[in-house]
Amino acid sequence: MITDRAESPDPRPQPECSVDTPSLPLKVLVVAAEIFPLAKTGGLADVVSALPKALAHLGTDVRLFMPAYPSALAQILSPRLDAGSGTIVGGAPLRLIGGRMPDSGLPVWLLDCPELYQRPGSPYADEQGHDWPDNARRFAALCDAAARIALGQAGIDWRPDVVHCHDWHTGLVPMWLHFAAQPRPRTVFTIHNAAFSGKFGLDALRQLGVPESACSMDGAEFYGDFSFLKAGIRYADKITTVSPTYAREIRTPEFGCGLDGLLRARSADLVGIMNGIDSDLWNPSHDPLVSRRYSRADFGGKDACKADLQRSLGLSVDAKAPLAIFVSRITPQKMADVMLRHLPGLMQRTPRMQFAMLGCGDRDLESGFKELPDVFPGRAAVRIGYTESMAHQLHSGGDLLLHGSRFEPCGLAPLYAMRYGTVPVVRRIGGLADSVTDADTPGAAPTGFVFEEPSGGAMISAVDRCVGTYQADPVRWRGLQSNGMAADFSWNRSARDYAEILGAGHSDPPASQQAT
Ligand code: ADP
Ligand code: GLC
Repeated sequence: MITDRAESPDPRPQPECSVDTPSLPLKVLVVAAEIFPLAKTGGLADVVSALPKALAHLGTDVRLFMPAYPSALAQILSPRLDAGSGTIVGGAPLRLIGGRMPDSGLPVWLLDCPELYQRPGSPYADEQGHDWPDNARRFAALCDAAARIALGQAGIDWRPDVVHCHDWHTGLVPMWLHFAAQPRPRTVFTIHNAAFSGKFGLDALRQLGVPESACSMDGAEFYGDFSFLKAGIRYADKITTVSPTYAREIRTPEFGCGLDGLLRARSADLVGIMNGIDSDLWNPSHDPLVSRRYSRADFGGKDACKADLQRSLGLSVDAKAPLAIFVSRITPQKMADVMLRHLPGLMQRTPRMQFAMLGCGDRDLESGFKELPDVFPGRAAVRIGYTESMAHQLHSGGDLLLHGSRFEPCGLAPLYAMRYGTVPVVRRIGGLADSVTDADTPGAAPTGFVFEEPSGGAMISAVDRCVGTYQADPVRWRGLQSNGMAADFSWNRSARDYAEILGAGHSDPPASQQAT
């Protein structure tokens, strides 16, 4: 039991962190709040699904751990009760349901605690979009159970060499392992989005048994509250984030969301590794979710996908209409407010332009977008919600992807778009600066249109350049599509970088990707 951390709140931290000399193959426990296809609200789920697959291909013994939401229980293969003794923070019984991922077959454990996770809505919020009021307890429980697995206290005959934690929901795993009164595995904490800090009242965390020193400024106290994200950053052995540029940005006051000082202090342990995509799942040449397959060598199928998409969304079937897609959470992060303000003007002065969007998020913005089809019948289609197959259909049928971002840790949507020959219009920020090359970049293989400022003017002039190229220069357009489709956004390289960090606690990160 690691309850000794609650009874003697602040035992001496363990300076050395390996359980034993790491054995081969490296054993990695991956902890996250969402993993595709069991649960998904955004790119986090995609990464925590695809990266472990790539790590497994490299010979790692990787196992996944997340809450037993109804959608997860319904999908895992061969479920069985793996452990069921003791209680986790908040008093719930520790019940682990083991099984296999439906896509990759990787081993997965679900933390089965119906009072915390069997709810309608998303992993974080109710159906009206309000955060669950007990999120501190829900994710503290996940972290507690993960720490017990890591320390061999969950009744499972497997102990990891390293625990890979993703985003704020898992920030207490490094903290609790740091304070554990026994040898522990190493911890790597990956920041997918520093804007979500997992902030809760200090008293709530004290009641959950968090050591007093972790509630101080030198711990995870954050402007009078407690931050799960800060805990992850403060106590993990290594920190990664999802692109090299974002790794630099978050060490500045502009993008650090109040944690830039701590991130600067931890620079030696912070690495930016560009996300990959699951290039089997997202592959236009054999994607079962799109109406026609195609490739760089044969774009015919993409034209057919566009016509099918226009038909199914009630848009005019017009091969020459520039069809802009927007597939995203609808939030200010994605400049959805700016887009909504400027789209009507853009569409008015660009006669055949069409717009199709899929996503959900901010309720007011959703309502605003929903008005567009009435204003532009046959030219605008808005689907509020999200399905995987509709996302694939938009990426395959679109001509250009609109993707503004006030900040963007990585940005998978433009990577998916490029894979499908859909030309992205993005801001030069975060991972987008690392992945999209502007059409006017001399001597490069351009893949999209890039703007600098987070303003409507900058965004629209990039869209104008894009639509202008589409309409006036088909050869150049085909070059952009082809370059995007040829680019390697697979996990091949990045998974090796992760394997190096997960496997070698004290070795230097890859020099090419250090946050300098
Ligand atoms: P973010 O993670 O910030 O939302 P990314 O571009 O990295 O942005 O990843 C977005 C992923 O989430 C893509 O797979 C996209 O298709 C998907 N997605 C977009 N909107 C939603 C939504 N409302 N619910 C679930 N997934 C979504
Ligand atoms: C976050 C970020 C996004 C990133 C994704 C996966 O949700 O907003 O930029 O691509 O995580 O790492």
